[in-house]
Amino acid sequence: MLARVTTFAIDGVEPRRVCVEVDIRPGLPAFTIVGLGDAAVRESRERIRSAVLNSGFEFPQRRITANLAPASLRKAGPGFDVAMALALLAASGQLPADALSHVAVFGELSLSGELRDSAGALAVAEGASRCGLRKLVVPAGRAREAALVDGIEVLGVSTLRTAVDAVTGRRLPGLPAPAVALQSPPEPDLGEVRGHAVPLLAIEIAAAGGHNLLLEGPPGTGKTMLARRLPSILPSLTRTEAIEVTRIHSVAGLHHDGLVSGRPFRAPHHTVSAAGLVGGGSTPRPGEATLAHLGVLFMDELSEFQRGAVEALRQPLEDGRVSIVRGQHALVFPTRFMLVAATNPCPCGYAGIAERCTCGEADLRRHQRRISGPLLDRIDLLVSVQRPSDAELRAGSVTDSRAALARVTEARERQRRRLAGSGASCNGEMDAGALQTRVRLDDGGQRALGDAYLSGMLSARGRHRVVRVAQTIADLDGRNTVTDVDVLLALNFRQRAGGEEVPAA
Ligand SMILES: Nc1ncnc2c1ncn2[C@@H]1O[C@H](COP(=O)(O)OP(=O)(O)OP(=O)(O)O)[C@@H](O)[C@H]1O
Ligand SMILES: [Mg+2]
Repeated sequence: MLARVTTFAIDGVEPRRVCVEVDIRPGLPAFTIVGLGDAAVRESRERIRSAVLNSGFEFPQRRITANLAPASLRKAGPGFDVAMALALLAASGQLPADALSHVAVFGELSLSGELRDSAGALAVAEGASRCGLRKLVVPAGRAREAALVDGIEVLGVSTLRTAVDAVTGRRLPGLPAPAVALQSPPEPDLGEVRGHAVPLLAIEIAAAGGHNLLLEGPPGTGKTMLARRLPSILPSLTRTEAIEVTRIHSVAGLHHDGLVSGRPFRAPHHTVSAAGLVGGGSTPRPGEATLAHLGVLFMDELSEFQRGAVEALRQPLEDGRVSIVRGQHALVFPTRFMLVAATNPCPCGYAGIAERCTCGEADLRRHQRRISGPLLDRIDLLVSVQRPSDAELRAGSVTDSRAALARVTEARERQRRRLAGSGASCNGEMDAGALQTRVRLDDGGQRALGDAYLSGMLSARGRHRVVRVAQTIADLDGRNTVTDVDVLLALNFRQRAGGEEVPAA
């Protein structure tokens, strides 16, 4: 006899429908699983056999074949266990087959027949809802997460037996409590920073327009301190964005059991590999760039990162997504993050302070090579963070996060109105078309930009970047039209300390 049930495979961070078919025929006892499963899928046989027996059901002593269709899609992980077990029970007449017709099933089994938490329940729920299924069986620990998706009845169960009761309607589990927005720990406040009027302005511009930022300066001047305070002035996620971030984090196995509310802030250590940063592995997993999606990727001590890892960031920074090819198949991970990097100006950290810098020419050149190049060209704001003066350290703060967030929110609102329908949600995301049609420079602004371009200081790409930043500066000032003052300030933020300009690219 044949029985079917729907489940989902996670492809990158997207759910893909998988039909589990189980066929039982007379013959020598055997249990075969086909359909391009990995080792965890093959091992399901042992888990299912024990779980079925330990739950008080009968395990058919016949020839059993389970097929995971479509066979072209690679299936990884133990999340198919429960679906196969239920289809097996239906195929052996221990469960009415029509009980499985409008249900999606997802979860891993333990030998005792308990359902273990499996990563990715929210993605599965989204898939089930898109396919028009009415019910979804998931491990009880993941029910709240799955219930974030509207329009689907989530049955959170803890054992195979209760899963059978739930799909037959004999005994339904209680409704999962609504997932509340997770309380993130209070973010550190910009009000703790003394001095640093220019870096603070740069951070505010970066937050307002979604621009990438590099902080450069000697040790102990507050670079890490500033970067860690950036999330406190970013507008909160919309519900759609929060669900997207929660889905990604759930697939990656960062258990949250609730809606992620704050913007992600990821600060990978500088020893991270290229695969760790942008995703990879034999069964590709999201990397730090994807975990930072819609938030901030902070690369502290940028010059210490492996060159390969930094180079790998090119595509995600440019396209907002990374695709990883395995065999015939490309997996796509979203990577729309703000990049914030911090570095010392040289290996000893004191370049430019003649009496303190101990680096030789070769050291300086090596350091420059490491941080310049493709990454630097994708950074819109270069900021020198110098030692604050004694008076500044004793004075009050320049701003605090609340005031800065209010200005950022207003500037973002202005951008949202101007960019409606362009595909971009903030200035940092404007493509060439949006720059042409949505940005208005007055005569002074045109002239300032033209002069900079003619002087050879800017490339065509650099020119676009300056216009995006200048537009954000205007937005923060409550204006739509970009003037020469905005352009000059934006140009200023493309120069590194010591007057060195970003290489034209
Ligand atoms: N401008 C400042 N206002 C208030 N405190 C500061 C300031 N600059 C530095 N500090 C203090 O110094 C500490 C060290 O700063 P931070 O770690 O940000 O330095 P850094 O520039 O990242 O140094 P490194 O280059 O060594 O990483 C901060 O935690 C803070 O207590
Ligand atoms: Mg630091």
